[in-house]
Amino acid sequence: MNGPLVGLKVEETADREEFRRAVLDGLSARPRAIPAKFLYDARGSALFDEICELPEYYLTRTETEILKQRAAEIGRRAGPGCALIEFGSGSSVKSRLLIDALPELALYAPIDISREHLDATASQLRRDYPNLKVDPVCADFMGPVPPIESRGRRLGFFPGSTIGNLTTGEATAFLRNVRALVGDDGALVLGADLKKDPQRLHDAYNDQAGVTAAFTLNLLRRMNRELQATFDLSAFAHEAFYDEAEGRIEIYFRSLRQQTVTVAGQRFEFAAGERVHTEYSYKYDADDLAGLAEAGGFRLADIWTDPERLFAVAYLESIRRT
Ligand code: AVI
Repeated sequence: MNGPLVGLKVEETADREEFRRAVLDGLSARPRAIPAKFLYDARGSALFDEICELPEYYLTRTETEILKQRAAEIGRRAGPGCALIEFGSGSSVKSRLLIDALPELALYAPIDISREHLDATASQLRRDYPNLKVDPVCADFMGPVPPIESRGRRLGFFPGSTIGNLTTGEATAFLRNVRALVGDDGALVLGADLKKDPQRLHDAYNDQAGVTAAFTLNLLRRMNRELQATFDLSAFAHEAFYDEAEGRIEIYFRSLRQQTVTVAGQRFEFAAGERVHTEYSYKYDADDLAGLAEAGGFRLADIWTDPERLFAVAYLESIRRT
């Protein structure tokens, strides 16, 4: 038998089981909800890459522009010889801006749940930076991360406003984990989307081309394929709106009529108009970020934004334990 192939099958079966459990629990709960991480199968990840290119979705290009402008400053703040640890690295596009700017970078440790993504990214980075030590870590950054061997200051990197997809409790728990990992002398470069004109926010999650809708409805396709579900994609719609009081975009798929759907052998009734929550995307102001940082054991040392104040890159420093 071929060892690695057997290993892969075991991993796949465990992933499928986790998905099945989360979906059955999420559709049985009230209100109904399915965790956002399941949006990112291969097609979902490709659709998200497309979202990042949309004219309405300003987040990615604005953050990249801020990082380009501020990379040298981040490099000066972090100092020479640090280890860069990225949480949820994907293809590490933005990390290259920091890798190029951090003096005598000792290590780049991308942490990602997808082994495939991680290996491809690490190989490419080793080719492009032959002198850089690249130590990929395959883990869910929301859980315990295996030990990382490094000397010098540790600089965490969490771009893309992925923090916004976490509830306040999850975001605080995440920051505390990061604080433990980077230690007393550590820091975190955090990308966060800012509060702004609700219409602008609405448009970013309701694009004209319908890519965000396809991204949400891809979850139904995934359930059909992996859990033998019977969702009729034309009988559900993407719904996204900004809740100003909560400071967040909320995303759902909504049933367009009364219908019954079978998922993994179980029947679920949907009333006309009933919806299933898939994502939150929290938006922040500087005070929100300072409060969140502090709850996580950091202080907001610096915050950089673009001329339109759409997006923020924050530099958080560990609050020293006395
Ligand atoms: C990954 N994350 C930061 C995106 C966001 O803006 O919250 C996910 C997304 N969902 C729909 N569009 C973008």
